[in-house]
Amino acid sequence: MVQFEHYRCPLHRYTFSVKPVRKWVEKHCEGRVLNLFAGPTLLGVDEVRNDLDPEMAAHYHLDALKLLSNWSGEPFNTVLLDPPYAIRKSMELYKGNICSPFRQLKDEIPRCLSLGGIVITFGYHSIVMGAGRKFSLERIALFSHGGAIHDTIASIERFNL
Ligand SMILES: C[S@@+](CC[C@H](N)C(=O)[O-])C[C@H]1O[C@@H](n2cnc3c(N)ncnc32)[C@H](O)[C@@H]1O
Repeated sequence: MVQFEHYRCPLHRYTFSVKPVRKWVEKHCEGRVLNLFAGPTLLGVDEVRNDLDPEMAAHYHLDALKLLSNWSGEPFNTVLLDPPYAIRKSMELYKGNICSPFRQLKDEIPRCLSLGGIVITFGYHSIVMGAGRKFSLERIALFSHGGAIHDTIASIERFNL
């Protein structure tokens, strides 16, 4: 059974700077976390941070796909995905840094994730990794921003044994 939660909170271009979102993500991260699109907010979890923008506090400043495809360290227990949701947003909000091709990025994740690990995604979709990659949907949180602003969907999918 998929767990569902609903929150009301403002929208910010740096998603985790909004307290209810940061609290939710910190609560649900498990073990060692790869935060692929980290932004400026440090999370209270054991995170390896990556952001293409060199001004963000991060261990790596690589394109997300490049980091995943070159990763040869220990697999992570959680991969956190909060990419720019659209090219227009990349241009307006993130200094023109656009997300790597998303299908390729998703295909690389299982290699970097422990069996039983989770992928937490923020965006416009509730199923991201999908059954085809052996993931099952466990939890959805809908963050409602009010007025004409569309909601943000967060999902947690587990890499099945
Ligand atoms: C939606 S923001 C979210 C940031 C962070 N999760 C937060 O809540 O503050 C997207 C972030 O992805 C970064 N970014 C954009 N394209 C990227 C890429 N190809 N690889 C890695 N990071 C990228 C941007 O610099 C920006 O900080």
